[in-house]
Amino acid sequence: MATTAKLELDGKTVELPIVIGSEGEKAIDISKLRASTGFVTLDSGYMNTGACTSAITFLDGEKGILKYRGISIEELSDKVSFIECSYLLIYGHLPNQTELKNFREGIKYHSLIHEDMKNFFNTYPSHAHPMAILSSMVCSLSAYYPELLKPDQTEEEKNGTITRLISKVRVLAAFAYKRSVGHPFVYPKNELDYVQNFLHMMFAVPAEPYQMDPVAVKAINLLLILHADHEQNCSTSTVRMVGSAKANLFASLSAGICALWGPLHGGANQEVLEMLEAIHADGGGYKKFLDKAKDKNDPFKLMGFGHRVYKNFDPRAKIIKKACDDVLQKLGVNDPILEIAKGLEETALKDPYFIERKLYPNVDFYSGIIYRALGIPTNMFTVMFAIGRLPGWIAQWKEMIEDPQMKICRPRQIYTGQTNVKFVPIEKRS
Ligand code: ACO
Repeated sequence: MATTAKLELDGKTVELPIVIGSEGEKAIDISKLRASTGFVTLDSGYMNTGACTSAITFLDGEKGILKYRGISIEELSDKVSFIECSYLLIYGHLPNQTELKNFREGIKYHSLIHEDMKNFFNTYPSHAHPMAILSSMVCSLSAYYPELLKPDQTEEEKNGTITRLISKVRVLAAFAYKRSVGHPFVYPKNELDYVQNFLHMMFAVPAEPYQMDPVAVKAINLLLILHADHEQNCSTSTVRMVGSAKANLFASLSAGICALWGPLHGGANQEVLEMLEAIHADGGGYKKFLDKAKDKNDPFKLMGFGHRVYKNFDPRAKIIKKACDDVLQKLGVNDPILEIAKGLEETALKDPYFIERKLYPNVDFYSGIIYRALGIPTNMFTVMFAIGRLPGWIAQWKEMIEDPQMKICRPRQIYTGQTNVKFVPIEKRS
């Protein structure tokens, strides 16, 4: 394989280094192109741009492969807890027993939020979207740890920030939910594991004991693992972009949460369920909705379908679809929405519009049906995604700031506006 690519420009040949990844991915390094030729590359939406090298997650969209630190998602999702998976992503290897124990202890130890922060929740309107609350609260946490804001932290400080964030994000999420339903906040219980503790804070009420269903714990664990990282997606790139300015981790993650909220990204899981509910309310016939999705004059899209990188199938969606059947069956839930989703998927996958464009169900298509069966309200779906994605964002931020070659992210542009416009004083403007 050639080690350089040749580019003909204005009668000159420019040689550009070729970079090969460990899974054989190929790239042309254009970082010095402008300096040597005056040209930049133009790639709106980063359709074809590698923004970094990374050793965290590999995905092959054509073959439907996803691996965290080299381990396939199919294997991981079946064998580890979300906390083990988080450790793997952040520290690069599966923890041994001592490492896992220490990591878990740290997460337990840091599970409280400052009592003053409870006042913030009370000042939001009860109808506030929990993603608005979560992003603000994650950034607000930084106010309580001024010692953790400096860009160049010691390993110990960095690990302290990481465990605090992983632990507290689920407290913030559960408190946001409690606020929205007007229930008192429920404090974490340290004898519970990560997912159990989250469910306890979400669903326990002082009046009666909370019976935790192991099926729910297993399902949430699986969903969090499947969402834990996805290389350079929109929210992760946002975290890297903000972090590249050496903004602190709280601020970087808060920005990532905001990016995730968008309906084309993590916000799609809420939109999928609302779409399925609308189809159900309309009598269950999905043809009308498929026609709308195909109509170029209609902004409607089939939510939970399509992906920038998966052009065959999304391996996460495959696992979630199977889990969806299992969970609903074990919980004894008969949800007509599941049948609508399956029918819609089957019909879309046979439709030339979706075949030609390689549009398949993505991770968000079936996840909402599981969340709904577990009693998690629709506007909390993207919050669940954010809890899951947190270790991935942290791992990517950590990898970036520990890279001695790290540079502030600063794309170029091609200016297309007016040139040399003469200034007109206000009294002479028409
Ligand atoms: N419904 C109908 N048509 C679609 C859909 C869809 N869900 N997704 C893509 N298309 C069409 C586009 O209109 C376009 O058609 P054209 O070539 O005739 O113009 C073609 O397929 C290519 O789609 P793009 O939007 O150009 O693809 P892109 O890679 O930019 O977008 C995205 C990917 C944003 C995920 C898109 O498929 C979409 O909007 N899906 C619905 C939202 C969704 O489910 N998002 C979650 C993604 S997973 C995640 O982020 C966790």
